Amino acid sequence: MAGLFQRHPRYAVLLAFLLVSTFYILSPYNTRPVGLGSLSINMNSTELQSRLIRAEHIYDRTKQQRNQLIKKFGPTPDKITNFPPDVEPWPPYTLWDYLPAAFNCPHEVERHGALGDGGKWICGLTRLREKKNCVIYSFGINYESSFEAAILANTKHCEIWGYDFSVKSFGPEIPWADQSRTHFFPYGLAGKDSHGPDDKNPMYTLESLMRMNGHTHIDLLKIDIESWEFDTLETFVKPYLEGGSKHAEGSAFPVGQLSIELHVWGRSFEYLLKWWENLEYVGLRPFWTEPNLVYQNYNRGGSADLAEYSFINIKGVNAYNRDL
Ligand SMILES: *[C@@H]1O[C@H](CO)[C@@H](O)[C@H](O)[C@H]1NC(C)=O
Repeated sequence: MAGLFQRHPRYAVLLAFLLVSTFYILSPYNTRPVGLGSLSINMNSTELQSRLIRAEHIYDRTKQQRNQLIKKFGPTPDKITNFPPDVEPWPPYTLWDYLPAAFNCPHEVERHGALGDGGKWICGLTRLREKKNCVIYSFGINYESSFEAAILANTKHCEIWGYDFSVKSFGPEIPWADQSRTHFFPYGLAGKDSHGPDDKNPMYTLESLMRMNGHTHIDLLKIDIESWEFDTLETFVKPYLEGGSKHAEGSAFPVGQLSIELHVWGRSFEYLLKWWENLEYVGLRPFWTEPNLVYQNYNRGGSADLAEYSFINIKGVNAYNRDL
């Protein structure tokens, strides 16, 4: 055999090619997500604006209901228990009842990535399909990248910056052909920079990472980082709140869409409400939520501490609230 290939190197090349392509075709990760179908709604910019105005009216009404619920069971936020114990008088609520995802996404809503753990509900991904300079950040990779693979398959120019200090790369779901549009770093996300030589895991704020990458806007931000999300976003929204430096400049919060898992372990209702209201202040509106029932199934008898939320930003200019 070896002699044959030495005399006929073209056979060797051909055989190698056949072997590699066979493995590629048979590979379990070769199932490239279906993408680039025509789902976009034919909608002019006047109609988009009127949909957003209607959605904001509905959201305002839900906020009033939230305040009534706080009065009823508080009457102030500091008196509210997130998950009341199973004893009389059994107030009929949990934390999540105060935070309904009452905003209407004006575009198509679709789950991208795996059912069960890994997929996310996204508003108007078709708006990114042809977009140039499309920037996506994904925090918390956990070697499962069905979501990222679906986003790449459904867009032409989007690039994904992925971060997770607990793994070495994206998961195996991303096909070779799309890997050139991904960038992975083994860093964590936090409310403070700590990436000196003595820090076991390098942690960065979102602002620092954006500055390092030269980005001023994120089209889609995915965060699943086991409760670091609270410190992270507390820091990241601060400049855009009243009295903040970016607020004074009049800059808009630089994220078009946020998909996040909340892990409320040990957080008070008062803290969570303030944190949530700050997100609302900078323009984020939740259009989808689901409690994490996989977690709940294993945490029987414990509280329902985990929930997924998806938000779009109605303020500033982004792919979901304007025709760019
Ligand atoms: C936008 O679409 C609506 C109906 O969807 C139509 O009534 C309106 O005339 C359109 N406006 C423009 C500027 O094309």
